[in-house]
Amino acid sequence: MTKITIAIDGFSSTGKSTVAKRLAKALGYVYVDSGAMYRAVTLYAMQNGLIETDCFDIDGLISQLEDIDVSFKFNEDLGFAEVYLNGINVESAIRTLEVSQFVSQVATISEVRAQLVKQQQNFGKDKGVVMDGRDIGTVVFPEAELKLFMTASAEKRAQRRYDELKERGDDVCYDDVLKNVQSRDHIDSTRDDSPLSMAKDAIKVDNSNMTLDEQFEFILKLSEDKINETHKKKRH
Ligand code: CDP
Ligand code: CDP
Repeated sequence: MTKITIAIDGFSSTGKSTVAKRLAKALGYVYVDSGAMYRAVTLYAMQNGLIETDCFDIDGLISQLEDIDVSFKFNEDLGFAEVYLNGINVESAIRTLEVSQFVSQVATISEVRAQLVKQQQNFGKDKGVVMDGRDIGTVVFPEAELKLFMTASAEKRAQRRYDELKERGDDVCYDDVLKNVQSRDHIDSTRDDSPLSMAKDAIKVDNSNMTLDEQFEFILKLSEDKINETHKKKRH
């Protein structure tokens, strides 16, 4: 069957990665969490003294970019690929609120974006990929056959992320999580390089009142229809 590229963009905590993972599994596609790559670079900067409260050594980070290796390794038990930073599994370490508080600043740096976008395009060169992020349908894969743009109210998204962090055992308060969600939305949407915006040919999905199953079924149907349509076009 013809393989397509599925780009899922949108605001923080809209359920992009949850649906993307499940979709990739159902279609037998590769899932790539592009946000995890920006988070891994941020973790590197934090671990190497390049980011501290009120101090961010941007030039230092740019000069060390070639020392940062971000990769993915498929975990059979989990059913998705986990992210590695210089050979170390950082899948859990990159999900803290602290990393979330710095990641959007790191993602404004064009040199960081250029390096990660190149790698993302390489992951998707054979199609059969579901990638989620902020600029997948606009910059990474502007030719993607299916583009989705996910949105939900900030309060709903913050509550979802808060529940997730609490479940992990992280000591966070709802107001800090809400502030982080709103601040990242703002930085991500207003940065100069590849700001978060809905591609003209994207389908908007507001999942404020959708369960995970409803959102998955809806997106699976869109994907199957697009795969069939692309397959038919290719045969003619
Ligand atoms: O899952 P969550 O919505 O918290 O964010 P993420 O997908 O893990 O992405 C973390 C941050 O990385 C975003 O807030 C953006 O600043 C940045 N990012 C980006 O700039 N471009 C992407 N393609 C993906 C993430
Ligand atoms: O990748 P992104 O930041 O867009 O979101 P996510 O990590 O997939 O989802 C954030 C949290 O919201 C997860 O705990 C999801 O289970 C939850 N969620 C939900 O409860 N209902 C939805 N319709 C979407 C997400």
